[in-house]
Amino acid sequence: MNVNLQHWTLAVDAQGIATAILDKAGESANSLSADVLSEFSSILDQLDVYPPKGLIIRSGKEAGFIAGADISEFSQLDTPEKGRTLVERGWGLFNRLEAVKYPTLALVRGHCLGGGLELALACRYLLAVDESGTKMGLPEVMLGIFPGWGGMLRLPQRVGPAAALDMMLTGKTIDAKRAKKMGLADDCVPPRVMEPAARQLLLSGQPRRPLPLMQRLMNGPLKGVVANGARKQVAKKARPQHYPAPYAIIDLWQKHNGNALAAPEVIDRIISSPTARNLVRVFHLQERMKGFGKDSNFKAKRVHVIGAGVMGGDIAAWCALRGMTVTLQDQTLERISPALKRAHALFAKKLREPLKIRAAFDRLIPDPQGDGVPHADVIIEAIFENVEAKHALFRAIEPRMKPQAVLATNTSSLKLEDLRTVLARPERLVGIHFFNPVSMMPLVEVVEAEGGDPAALLAACAFVKQIDKLPLPVKSAPGFLVNAVLAPYMLAAMRAVDEGISPETVDEAMLAFGMPMGPIELVDTVGLDIAMAAGKQLAGGAEAPKCLLSRVEKNMLGKKSGQGFYDWSSGKAAKGSAGAVPDGLAERLVKPLVDRVEQLVADGVVADRDLADGGVIFGTGFAPFTGGPLNYRAALLG
Ligand code: NAI
Repeated sequence: MNVNLQHWTLAVDAQGIATAILDKAGESANSLSADVLSEFSSILDQLDVYPPKGLIIRSGKEAGFIAGADISEFSQLDTPEKGRTLVERGWGLFNRLEAVKYPTLALVRGHCLGGGLELALACRYLLAVDESGTKMGLPEVMLGIFPGWGGMLRLPQRVGPAAALDMMLTGKTIDAKRAKKMGLADDCVPPRVMEPAARQLLLSGQPRRPLPLMQRLMNGPLKGVVANGARKQVAKKARPQHYPAPYAIIDLWQKHNGNALAAPEVIDRIISSPTARNLVRVFHLQERMKGFGKDSNFKAKRVHVIGAGVMGGDIAAWCALRGMTVTLQDQTLERISPALKRAHALFAKKLREPLKIRAAFDRLIPDPQGDGVPHADVIIEAIFENVEAKHALFRAIEPRMKPQAVLATNTSSLKLEDLRTVLARPERLVGIHFFNPVSMMPLVEVVEAEGGDPAALLAACAFVKQIDKLPLPVKSAPGFLVNAVLAPYMLAAMRAVDEGISPETVDEAMLAFGMPMGPIELVDTVGLDIAMAAGKQLAGGAEAPKCLLSRVEKNMLGKKSGQGFYDWSSGKAAKGSAGAVPDGLAERLVKPLVDRVEQLVADGVVADRDLADGGVIFGTGFAPFTGGPLNYRAALLG
C-alpha cells in the first residue's frame, strides 16, 4: 500500500481482510485531530480502489481505542465557518464509512469516547473487548458541546432513544458487558480471543439486531413525547441559560435527526458559547491536576487508615474500591463495623458483580491492633480533631512505619506544624485532606507544611492520583483552599438570613447562579457546630451570625441532628417555597468567596489562578460553566 501515513497503518492479509490501526504519532492516547481524520479519509480512498473483503479498525495504543476529538482544536474555532467545518469533517467522513460496500468492524478495547464512539457507530459491527478499561460514551455534553459526528443520529438508532439520550445528556460511560446487553456492541469477548472473534464477526454477514418496536416508535412518531420528557429531566439538573448543550442535543435529535449541519445557527451558538469555552477550560484544569505526582514512581499497594469514623471509614472503603489492600484501625471492632457496612453498600453500588464486591470487601481488613502499620505504603490519620490525641498516635506509630511510607493527616483545622512536633522525622508529615462525602467529591487537597519533604508531597500526590481523585497541592494555612473560601461565603449567606431573607430564598439565589447546593443547605449538611468552629477560625474575629448562634444554642445542628435551618426528619431538607430573589443577592453572596480566592492566590496558598479555579470547582462544585470563581470575575470585568 502506498499511502503515506503518520498516524495509521493499513495492512491487508492473505484472506483480503484489511486492518487499519490508529497509533497517533507523539501521543499516548488516540484523538481524532484534523490530520488523523484526513489520513483516515485517504485510507478509504485507497480501499475504494482495492476493496477488501472487510475492514477492521483498531487502536495501536495501550491506553485504549480513541479518547475523542482533539480538544486542543476547539480553542481555534473563532469563526462560525470554522465550527461548521469541524462538524462537517467528522459527519461527512463517518457517513462515508457507513456507506462502504465491504463489511467494517470497530474492535473496541479501552476507552472509546466521543468521536471515537461515533467512528465505531459508523462501522457495521462493534466488538467490545471485555476488560475493566473498556468504556464507551458520548461525553461531549460535559464540554458544553454535542456529538455532531453522527452520534446523535446513530446512537438512538442503535440502542433506542431512551438509552441514547441518557448517555448523551449525562455523558456517562458504559462497560463492555453493558454495551452488549443494550445492543451498542454486537458482541463482547475476552481479550485472548478478540482477534479471531473480530474476523469471524466481520465476515459473518450477521444482520444488526433490530430495535424493539416501541424503541422504533420512540425514534419516529413518538419523538416529540420523548423529547419533551428528556427536556423535563434535563431541566431538573441544568438551566438552559447555564448549560445550553443538552437542550441543543434534544432539539437536534428531534428536529434534524441528529444532523447539526441542518441547523448551522445551533452549531454557532453552542460552539461560541462561554459555557463551552469554560467547560473546555475546566477539562484542561482537570487534566493539569491529574498530572500532579506523575513524575513520582511511588506506587501504593497497602494503605493503613486510623480512625474509622465519618471520614476514615469512607477513605478506607474508597482505597479498597480502587484496588488497594487496606487495614482500618480504630479503638475497637465495634467502632469499625459501621464503616464496613457503609463500605459494603459502596462496593455494591459501584461494582454490581458479586465476585468483584466480595474481592473489594476482602481487601478491606479491620485492624483494631494496628497490625497494618509496618506493611503500609501510606498511613492516613483520621482520628478526633485533637492535637494531644494525634500526638500520642504519631508517637506510637512512627517507629513501626516503613522508612519510605507516606504519613498523612486528614485534619481540617489543625496546623501540620503543630502536629508533627512529636515526630523523629517531622518533615515527612503531609496533609491528605479529603472532602465529605468521600465517594462523591473528586478533589483532595495535598498539604505541604513549612519545610516539608518535597518527595513526600510528590508521593502523596501520586497516591491521590492512584485512587482516581484530583490532587491539589496547597500550603498549610487555615482552611487550606476549599474550606477557607467556603467560610466567608456561608457567613455572607447567614448574614442575609439575619437581615430577614428566608433560607429558601438565599438558597434559590445561589442555585439560580449555578451552584449545586444552596449555601444554607450546605451549612445544614456540614453541621452548624462545625460551621461555627470554622467561622471562629476563618472569619477573622467577625461575630457569628445570629441565626447560627440561636440554633446552635438549641442544639439544632443541621442534617445530623434532624433540624437546622431546615427540617431534615425525612432525610432531605424540607424547604418551603422561595420568595422573590432580591436583585444582586447572588453577586453579593459570591463576592466574599471570590475575594478570598484572590487573597489565597496572592498569599501563595495555591500556586496560581488556574489551580485556584480548578480547586474551587472540584472541591465545592462552584458553577463549572463559569470556568471557576476567578474566571467568572474576569468575565464580569470584561
Ligand atoms: P469521627 O469522630 O467521625 O471519627 C473519628 C474516629 O477516630 C472515631 O471512630 C474514633 O473512635 C477514632 N479514634 C479516635 N482516637 C483514636 C485513636 N487514638 N486510635 C484509633 N482510632 C481513634 O471524625 P471525622 O469526622 O471522621 O474526622 C476525622 C478527621 O478528619 C478529623 O481530623 C477531621 O478534622 C477530618 N475531616 C473531617 C471532615 C468531615 O466532614 N467530618 C472532612 C475532612 C476532614
